[in-house]
Amino acid sequence: MSLFDCTCEATSGHARALTYETAHGSFQTPMFMPVGTSATVKGVTVGQLNDLKSQVVLANTYHLSLRPGADVVEEAGGVHGFSHYDGPMLTDSGGFQVFSLADTVKLDDDGLTFRSIYDGSKVRWTPETNMAIQEQLGADIAMQLDQCAPYPAEKAFVAKAVDLSAKWARRCLTAHQRADQTLFGIVQGGMHLDLRLDSIRLLREIEDESLAVGGRRFGGFGIGGYSVGEDHEVMFETLGDVARACPEDRPRYLMGVGNPTTLVRAVREGVDMFDCVLPTRTARMGTAFSSAGRMNMRNAKFTRDFGPLDPTCTCPTCQNHSRSYIRHLVKQNEMLGGILLSIHNLHYLLDLMRRAREAVLADSYEEFYGEWMASPAAKDY
Ligand code: GUN
Ligand code: ZN
Repeated sequence: MSLFDCTCEATSGHARALTYETAHGSFQTPMFMPVGTSATVKGVTVGQLNDLKSQVVLANTYHLSLRPGADVVEEAGGVHGFSHYDGPMLTDSGGFQVFSLADTVKLDDDGLTFRSIYDGSKVRWTPETNMAIQEQLGADIAMQLDQCAPYPAEKAFVAKAVDLSAKWARRCLTAHQRADQTLFGIVQGGMHLDLRLDSIRLLREIEDESLAVGGRRFGGFGIGGYSVGEDHEVMFETLGDVARACPEDRPRYLMGVGNPTTLVRAVREGVDMFDCVLPTRTARMGTAFSSAGRMNMRNAKFTRDFGPLDPTCTCPTCQNHSRSYIRHLVKQNEMLGGILLSIHNLHYLLDLMRRAREAVLADSYEEFYGEWMASPAAKDY
């Protein structure tokens, strides 16, 4: 196996079980990736992530390039040396954050200018400078700079975002040099299937042109621009066709999606990778995923409930702590409450995707899917 090789072990319907090689070990899909925006999965240590058998961990170019700065991270040995996580890592380009966090973004064909959320200072990115920053951060997977259209948006606006994202994809692929890092393209196009298919066609053309002159190809395909406020059913009207229009021989990564049922359904449509702040963010707000659906641990009904958080869960939180204790921690704003719930919620999604993989390997994904959809947890969108 060489770097960035992608092997398909099995398929079950449209669902796939892939193995992908990186310089920090291989990862296996379907897979959920914990989000560590500032090179930390909030509240969870690297040792705990390893115990959870987390595979790829995310970090964000927006946050790290502003604080502490890409040069500091580079000097520390990149995101791996800095955070001490030695499994595969991925950096999002930060384009998405620029649009969602900054109130003033100036967009032109050449790049974008925005104000830092930290100190209001002006920052300018082009596809080339963004690639240079992601190379400094040194994750195994970098994402192209893209423009994610809001929802709802005029179709003409979404079409322009597709065009610009493709132009930037070309420049990112040309600029990207680091041999131990691969670059994923990102599909845009909102809820319009024709624009999505255009976006994929453009990415394929860009890659063909690159290969024709001895350049590189995309290591995988991000599917961006979903989960931006639309109803889940609206996403599923196009997601399957979009996923399956992406090249079959590389991972398809649905960006920013982490609801358990959405994952189970998206895998069935041919998606391989997911990331979301949902498990850790909801944990910090006192919410646990469970086999019975989401539980708000502030609820008074847990005051004297000395049973485990989720009787069916094998995570360290559920092995050691009661609902009563966790409710107490959350109610008192004790930091351990959010930590224990983060560990449990991450385990929940990581384990869900491990079971999805087992089902693909056994060619029984439809049964797995049917069982999930009939379970009380399925209402967890
Ligand atoms: N995270 C969630 N959605 C997106 C997207 O459309 N683009 C990028 N770069 N990151 C995302
Ligand atoms: Zn648990």
